[in-house]
Amino acid sequence: MSSQDIPEEKLPAERDTTHGALGVADEKNPFADPGLPPHEHRIQDIDERAAKRSERTVALLFTLSMLATIGFIAAFVAIPVDKIVYVFPLGHVSALNLALGVTLGTALFAIGAGAVHWARTLMSDEELTDERHPIEAPPEVRAKVMDDFRQGAKESALGRRKLIRNTMFGALTLVPLSGVVLLRDLGPLPEEKLRHTAWSKGKRLINQNTNEPMRPSDIVTGSLTFAKPEGLDEHDHDFNNEIAKAALMIVRIQPDDIKDKQALEWSHEGILAYSKICTHVGCPISLYEQQTHHVLCPCHQSTFDLSDGAKVIFGPAGHALPQLRIGVNDDGYLEALSDFEEPVGPAFWERG
Ligand code: FES
Repeated sequence: MSSQDIPEEKLPAERDTTHGALGVADEKNPFADPGLPPHEHRIQDIDERAAKRSERTVALLFTLSMLATIGFIAAFVAIPVDKIVYVFPLGHVSALNLALGVTLGTALFAIGAGAVHWARTLMSDEELTDERHPIEAPPEVRAKVMDDFRQGAKESALGRRKLIRNTMFGALTLVPLSGVVLLRDLGPLPEEKLRHTAWSKGKRLINQNTNEPMRPSDIVTGSLTFAKPEGLDEHDHDFNNEIAKAALMIVRIQPDDIKDKQALEWSHEGILAYSKICTHVGCPISLYEQQTHHVLCPCHQSTFDLSDGAKVIFGPAGHALPQLRIGVNDDGYLEALSDFEEPVGPAFWERG
């Protein structure tokens, strides 16, 4: 229905849309200002039932946004991260990612669509001409802007259309929750994980190169060997996390050359087991000097004396390397007598 079909008495009062005198074409100015075209009334301006329909549409869109946000949160909680579904034409996709994308997209789209529909059908459609003016705004202009803002707020009927206002506030309040929920993707809290490694009493030392359990006779004086705990397999999904804490350096030093009393007690016949993870920023230590029993971290050259409790003798590392207490089991294999007594690696020390 166009404004031409509407009885004259139902039309709102016609506004002046020319805003000043129209230009007149002459020799100097051949392009005369044609002025604005005649104003077309919207159906919602003249039919309250149409306005109500638009209001319900806007409210429906805002409500849809709220439901989609709730769906987003429910999907995040309920759908397992490894669930795969087939969706034509995307193929096999993660069910969780698909659900999060669809629900968040719907929530944002519905807010935008609701706002656009509201503006196009219910807010004032008065056509205005804004005369050009200097960029700087004098006080009276700013006062006028504030007046216009208040006028705009009044004309948007925010106070009168309570259904729209309330559903819009509901949608705008709920949609940021999606971002809050996503914070959980930063990962679970570490809890006690940083304080413990895969070592525990009775776990045999496995040679990292041969994957065989180690006997004392396998460790030659002056050599450096790397070991991992029994039961830690390279194909385990958590292998990298676990070996990053549990990697071990094994050296054999003449017991008389071991200066630190506790290090000697925690060793077995001069075989010492130290964490391989540098206490500076966590590089794996691998350079061993058998004459001095010093190990050097290749990252920033921190140097540790394995004959003296792996104390730092040079470089930025702030702490000695943790030592693992070891012994020999009934079958003659080297085994751990406990987990490390202190956290391995860097930074955690400073956090306490
Ligand atoms: S990580 Fe070892 S010295 Fe920096």
